[in-house]
Amino acid sequence: MECRKELLPADSCKPKPTDESKLGFGQIFCDHMFLMDYEKGKDWHDPRIVPYGPLALSPAALVLHYGQEVFEGLKAYRGVDGGIYMFRPQANLERMNRSNKRLCIPELPVQETLEHLFELVKTEHEWVPTLEGTSLYIRPTVIATEACLGVKVSSKYLYFVIMGPVGAYYPEGFNPVRIYVEENYVRASVGGVGEAKTMGNYAASLLAAEEAHAKGFTQVLWLDACDRKSIEEVGTMNMFFVIDGEVITSPLHGSILPGITRDSVLTMCRHWDLNVSERKLTIDEVLEAQAAGKLEEAFGTGTAAVISPVGSIHYRGTDYTVADGQTGPLSHKLYDELTGIQLGKRPDPFGWVVKV
Ligand code: COI
Repeated sequence: MECRKELLPADSCKPKPTDESKLGFGQIFCDHMFLMDYEKGKDWHDPRIVPYGPLALSPAALVLHYGQEVFEGLKAYRGVDGGIYMFRPQANLERMNRSNKRLCIPELPVQETLEHLFELVKTEHEWVPTLEGTSLYIRPTVIATEACLGVKVSSKYLYFVIMGPVGAYYPEGFNPVRIYVEENYVRASVGGVGEAKTMGNYAASLLAAEEAHAKGFTQVLWLDACDRKSIEEVGTMNMFFVIDGEVITSPLHGSILPGITRDSVLTMCRHWDLNVSERKLTIDEVLEAQAAGKLEEAFGTGTAAVISPVGSIHYRGTDYTVADGQTGPLSHKLYDELTGIQLGKRPDPFGWVVKV
């Protein structure tokens, strides 16, 4: 499908940020966005790149009432050779289609959608920042647009992609974060939509996050919805713990987001012949290991957060320090390897990087 382009004249484009050390996350948007429509009987059609701006939407659009939506998050990087690279973009689109299935949204054609993504990034190539630790964050999203107040599957959708230059997701950057173990609220339960990347999961997390922030914690660590014992994930990241030489992360049993950074970390650790387990891990086991001096490190993984070391875990009124509150050696090694591959500084043995 040919992508129609309606571009702004150069003198109407916004000035690019001058100080890339102050980008923050998700506050600056590129000049253009990508749109494509779906209608029952017409499939996906009319792909177009247009100036960034408000969407025209009926106040009765199904997404606004019943949350039929999915989104993705991926990045484009300025490589050390000045070129623009993306990291496993196909994996994001494949995950998006799995989320689409769960939310009864028609799947996107992966290859064409990938080409449209490349086209948008190429159009906005000047927005890809150059400072180390920065990137162009890309947010593909699908929303149900049919106007109807009956609870039903929409017959119309809009797929859109917006983008903007970003720095570190957490104000701490690569410094260790403090996490709060949540026991009152749950994020998702098995059989629900926890493994889909959909807005409701994030809405469900807000109250716990607000309460944790008010107590001075960066992120909430979710436990399973049944026993409130097993580690699930942290707000915007999957979690890893290193206990007595074993690198452990929770299995993908239906309520956890299947992170692409999570998968990349597992692949790298296995490639390095580390002892890696995807297994159930309870908060009790983590804290017993901490008491016995066997909790070597803990870190979160995510597209936005990259590798985020955990300096302390707060559970039932007590702070438990991890790795002396410092960034552990595996977190360091993974961060260097992952960002090295993404920026073209290190070899890419897994074929993850795509030149745009
Ligand atoms: C990402 O890591 O891309 C995410 O989707 C996290 C986001 C909710 C900020």
